[in-house]
Amino acid sequence: MLLKRRLSFAELPESLKDVTLETFTINAYENPKSKDTARKACEGIKYYLKNFNSLKTAGMGLYIHSNTKGSGKTRMAASVANHIMQNTTLQARFATSTRIITEIQSIWDDKTGTQSVSKLLNDLSRISVLIIDDFGTEIHKAWVEEKFYQIINERYINNLPTIFTSNCRLEQLKYDDRITNRIEEKTFQIAFPEESVNLPTIFTSNCRLEQLKYDDRITNRIEEKTFQIAFPEESVRKAIKRKNHEELIENITK
Ligand SMILES: Nc1ncnc2c1ncn2[C@@H]1O[C@H](COP(=O)(O)OP(=O)(O)OP(=O)(O)O)[C@@H](O)[C@H]1O
Ligand SMILES: [Mg+2]
Repeated sequence: MLLKRRLSFAELPESLKDVTLETFTINAYENPKSKDTARKACEGIKYYLKNFNSLKTAGMGLYIHSNTKGSGKTRMAASVANHIMQNTTLQARFATSTRIITEIQSIWDDKTGTQSVSKLLNDLSRISVLIIDDFGTEIHKAWVEEKFYQIINERYINNLPTIFTSNCRLEQLKYDDRITNRIEEKTFQIAFPEESVNLPTIFTSNCRLEQLKYDDRITNRIEEKTFQIAFPEESVRKAIKRKNHEELIENITK
C-alpha cells in the first residue's frame, strides 16, 4: 500500500511502473559493440544500486547517455527508480526536463505567481531521488538554465542524488560549467549503446512488400525482420455475401 502510494507519487508513466533491472536484456541489442556497452552499463548500475546506501549519502547519482534514440535510457532510469523505491523507504520522482520547464511556464502564465514556481522548484530540489529524463532536449534559454541551475545546485549542496538520462554526453550539453561541473562531480556517467532496441513492428498494408514505393534500405529491413502474411483478396462483406449466396443455392438444390 505504502509502496503503491510512493509509486504513484513518483509520477512514472504507466508503461514504466513495472520495469526492472532483472528484465533488462542484453539481447535487445544486435551489434556486438552495443551488447558490450550495455553489459558495462548494466554492471555499473548494479554496482551503484548495491552500494546505494553509502553513495546516496554523498549525493551520487547517474548520468545515463547515448546519442541514439530508443536505446533504453529512460527504461533503465525507471528501473533504477523502481529498485530504489522497492528496497528503501526513499521517495523518487520522475520528470522529463521538458515537463519541468512547461510546468514552470504554465504556473508562470497562470499568474499564480512566483510563490508557486518556488514551491515546484523546492519540491524538485528536496525530493530524495529525482530522475530528470531527456535532459538537454528542452529549449535552451537563459531562464531555463537558471531554473535548472537552482534545482541542480540545491540538490548538490544537500547531497541528494539525481539520475539523468540524455541524448548528449555531458560535454555536449549547451549548459554552462556551473551546471555541468556539478553534474560531473555528483554522477557516474553511464554510456548506453548507440543502437535502438530491436523491437518487433507489425505492419498492415495494401501493397505487397515489393510493391511499396520506398527504396531498398527500407524494404530490405522490413523483409529481414517480418514474417509476410498474405490476407485474402476479398473483402469480408463480399465474402459473407458470397457465403450466404452459396448456402442459399445449396438449400435450393437440396
Ligand atoms: N533491454 C531492453 N529490453 C527490452 N525492451 C527494452 C530494453 N531497453 C529498452 N526497451 C524498450 O525499447 C523502447 C525504447 O527505450 P527507451 O524509451 O528507454 O529509449 P531511450 O534511450 O530513452 O530513447 P530516447 O533517446 O528517445 O529518449 C521502449 O519501448 C523500451 O521499453
Ligand atoms: Mg528516453
